[in-house]
Amino acid sequence: MKTYEKRKGNRKFDEMREIRAEVGVIKSADGSAMFQIGDTIAIAAVRGPRELHPRFLQNPQTAILRCNYDMASFSVPERKRPGPSRRSVEISLVTGKALSQVLDLAQYPNTVVDVFIVIVQANAGTRCAGITAASMALAHAGISMKNLVSSISVGKVGDKIVVDLDKDEEDFEGGATDIPVAMTSGGDITLLQLDGEITKPELMKAIELAKKSCEKITEVQKKALKDFYKEEK
Ligand code: CDP
Repeated sequence: MKTYEKRKGNRKFDEMREIRAEVGVIKSADGSAMFQIGDTIAIAAVRGPRELHPRFLQNPQTAILRCNYDMASFSVPERKRPGPSRRSVEISLVTGKALSQVLDLAQYPNTVVDVFIVIVQANAGTRCAGITAASMALAHAGISMKNLVSSISVGKVGDKIVVDLDKDEEDFEGGATDIPVAMTSGGDITLLQLDGEITKPELMKAIELAKKSCEKITEVQKKALKDFYKEEK
């Protein structure tokens, strides 16, 4: 296994890229947020809860959460073909599962809550940035929720366990081990995907690193929400 010596910009192995978060970035939505980590930027907009049509899709017990993840064609150096793909369908699905646990959807029977995520700039970790932005947008939309959800990718690059892999690290030596993780602010894991090889002790170390990082992201999410309401007054 190749030794991984040094990260770009002297970043430590347990250090995330620079983070920026903002709430209320899309005026036409019921809730919205932006989350940036390094060169990856996700925008999330929420519409709803509103009556679901066609009506036969309605559930009298609960609202339905619909998530749509999309990467803009200009988000990567090589133009990304517009429109849905197997990848975007999969990411939309896991995003919904990562978020739904914290939402009290039973409060909104017969309705739908739509979450639209657009990646405007991509340099790895886009599903995690999307989930983090969507959680803030749902809170901003006033949807009843028990906790926030934050998300980060951890993994193994060469011989090192690292947090927040960038694109070069994901591609290191033909492919690193990439583990996107989402956690509630109550400490529950709502997403864990594993692409690559890792031993059990290394996986435990990586999850611990994800937990610490998600706690830091939660603080940034809370600050962005507080700042928005401070400015509103
Ligand atoms: O973005 P994330 O790490 O959640 O998902 P991925 O499927 O592992 O994609 C990793 C990265 O590959 C993305 O963040 C983009 O930087 C890049 N990518 C791309 O350049 N073109 C695509 N059509 C899809 C992904």
